[in-house]
Amino acid sequence: MADLYLVHWPVKLNPGAVNLLPSEGDFDELDLETTWFGMEKSLEMGLCRCIGVSNFSSKKIQQLVHFASVPPVVNQVEMHRMWRQRKLREVCQKHDIHVSAYSPLGAPGNFWGSNAVLDHPTLKSIARKHNATSAQFALAWGLAEGSIVIVKSFDQRRMKENIAALQLTLDDSDILKVQNIEEQKMMREEVFVNEKTSPYKTVQDLWNDEI
Ligand SMILES: NC(=O)c1ccc[n+]([C@@H]2O[C@H](COP(=O)([O-])OP(=O)(O)OC[C@H]3O[C@@H](n4cnc5c(N)ncnc54)[C@H](OP(=O)(O)O)[C@@H]3O)[C@@H](O)[C@H]2O)c1
Repeated sequence: MADLYLVHWPVKLNPGAVNLLPSEGDFDELDLETTWFGMEKSLEMGLCRCIGVSNFSSKKIQQLVHFASVPPVVNQVEMHRMWRQRKLREVCQKHDIHVSAYSPLGAPGNFWGSNAVLDHPTLKSIARKHNATSAQFALAWGLAEGSIVIVKSFDQRRMKENIAALQLTLDDSDILKVQNIEEQKMMREEVFVNEKTSPYKTVQDLWNDEI
């Protein structure tokens, strides 16, 4: 049985759409209510322990909780020190939905990410103050904000470094400094935007102007 089953994106593609970059013909009409009913059914059938969503804006969360019999337990979204998701977190908290932070280091090395989060001079200097690495501070920040933090590494040394972030305690001045840093979203996902077949004509539509 799966622990957690997520709707990965608020997008519906045809069953035959297998490419990472969908073409115009791959899009089907999005019907969130029916999709969520299917998620609730999988829970009822005992196929998973929990159901949730990913990449949902606060507006989409509000739409979903309006008709859901079982609300999502989690919304997995991009969140790090430079994309802090303040509004979304408030809405999720109101509905008892955990926010799970993906790309907590800003996804360095991934085609959509960069080193901007790890290399930010202010963030690096706060990390140094704690004798921690920038990555450890990044993870400790997400945890201090009450989020689940899902970092990825294939390197054993960095895995240990990342786990050690659990020992790091931040102070209010660290959190305040982070709040003043200019925001930058890494994953915009233009691939789900098109004029003809996608429900989203612009990137702003996809994220309900929360970008
Ligand atoms: N729901 C969604 O749409 C969605 C989207 C994106 C990602 N995710 C999930 O989120 C998780 C993590 O996200 P992500 O991979 O995008 O971003 P991330 O965890 O921010 O970044 C991963 C990158 O950081 C490097 N790294 C890890 N620890 C490090 C450290 N201590 N110092 C320096 N570099 C370090 C890794 O390289 P090494 O392996 O060489 O250490 C890897 O290249 C994954 O499980 C992924 O599946 C979900």
